[in-house]
Amino acid sequence: MRGPDGHGAKGLACATCHGRANNAASGVPGADGDWHLAPLAMGWEGLTPALRCAHLKDASRNGGRNGTAVIDHLKTALVAWAWQPGDDARNRPRTPPPVPYDEFLKIAELWINSGAACPEPN
Ligand code: HEC
Repeated sequence: MRGPDGHGAKGLACATCHGRANNAASGVPGADGDWHLAPLAMGWEGLTPALRCAHLKDASRNGGRNGTAVIDHLKTALVAWAWQPGDDARNRPRTPPPVPYDEFLKIAELWINSGAACPEPN
């Protein structure tokens, strides 16, 4: 359960079980950062690429971030965890994003530094 602020249900916060690193013995993932869900305002499921892009740049939906702060966010341990997700409880490796982390950061920085253009709505 996301709870009132995305940090879990009252009395059972995400950090109750999720620590500061992946736990190889139990398969419980963790990151050196405050483990929680992205806010609902950052929900991108079902959005067109144009809308997703607009939401990513919209300070009212992205945690009040400007371009530099968006890049800083991508460098946090919690976001970077996605590329080091560890193995699950059955020792099956979790699937990282399809683009390597370094390449992802480079492309994101290029996008921000070149004006953060969005695709045309269709
Ligand atoms: C009661 C303990 C507990 C709490 C509280 C908890 N988790 Fe987990 N979580 C687990 C366990 C155990 C696993 C590993 C399950 C597995 O690998 O089969 C897991 C796995 C995950 C995964 C990886 C899923 C995957 O596909 O492998 C994510 C992401 C996650 N939790 C996020 C959260 C978030 C966000 C919260 C708070 C809103 C939260 N968890 C609260 C125990 C917990």
